Amino acid sequence: MIKGYKKIVDETLVNYFDEILNNKEHFFAKKTAEAMKYTTCLGGKRLRAILCLEACRIFSNDYFNALPSACALEMLHSQSLIHDDLPSMDNDDLRRGKPTNHKVFGEAAAILAGDALISLGVQIIAEKTSKAVGAERILKAIKEYSIAAGIFGIVGGQTADIEASNSTFNLKNNENMLQYIQKYKTGALFAASLSIGAILGGADSKKTEILRKFAYEFGIAFQMADDILDVISTTDEMGKKTGKDKDENKLTYVEKYGLIGAKEKLISQKKICYDILNSNGIESETFYEILDSITNKIF
Ligand code: IPE
Ligand code: IPE
Ligand code: MG
Ligand code: MG
Ligand code: MG
Repeated sequence: MIKGYKKIVDETLVNYFDEILNNKEHFFAKKTAEAMKYTTCLGGKRLRAILCLEACRIFSNDYFNALPSACALEMLHSQSLIHDDLPSMDNDDLRRGKPTNHKVFGEAAAILAGDALISLGVQIIAEKTSKAVGAERILKAIKEYSIAAGIFGIVGGQTADIEASNSTFNLKNNENMLQYIQKYKTGALFAASLSIGAILGGADSKKTEILRKFAYEFGIAFQMADDILDVISTTDEMGKKTGKDKDENKLTYVEKYGLIGAKEKLISQKKICYDILNSNGIESETFYEILDSITNKIF
């Protein structure tokens, strides 16, 4: 299932970008279009897309209605990575095993590519989602996407991440800040992925809220694992430079609780996620597989 989902998302994304690259009217914008395609189509695990498709499938027995949104979410995710890697943010040279966007295309194109990816995602959801889904659900999906993209989502979390890394002991010592960072810089996009999948699959609001709750908790677990891997894994294995969070003075669970403490917290956080699935009778092998997989390289 996971591999099948990934393949169809990879292929659909290439088609969307090729449509833009073949658009003669926008010939002079080609550089930014190439930068958009570059990072997005370098791959990645496609977890957000897969979760979105699977959420749609469990409610409607088909994932097709969520395919444009799943691709849009990967565009938004790629944007967040392109901007996250900029010199003014985390200043990284390697992403998905290749030079970062600004290293290849320059900073101006990387900033523009990120901007354009955010709005292309909205356009894709509005334009490519089957009309049979109905305007109300499509509008709800766009709302979820917009929340994740902005101040109530990734931008909020990234702001706190940067503020914390520039800050003194007092701000970093605030327990709420670490939680806020993890919940919003990472959890918000997972929340959009699962809620959009559920909405497009026809889930009622109660079921949608259960998946949203799961998604935020999953996002926190996922970011805990990423922070641990920054310390224990290699650049080769991750396709991005490891050992950087300490140099950049990042506020992470490892920084706050030490490696052992962070691993313990990750185990309990994963348990919270399993409990939400179990206690609500959510039957999805894919959700369990993805949840299992986040600690594969750790334990
Ligand atoms: C990286 O996300 C950014 C974080 C939230 C830690 P992923 O680890 O899902 O990145 P890709 O998409 O597989 O490259
Ligand atoms: C990423 O956090 C969260 C984003 C919104 C991009 P990190 O800065 O830890 O992600 P990596 O380690 O660079 O992938
Ligand atoms: Mg960062
Ligand atoms: Mg980073
Ligand atoms: Mg990281």
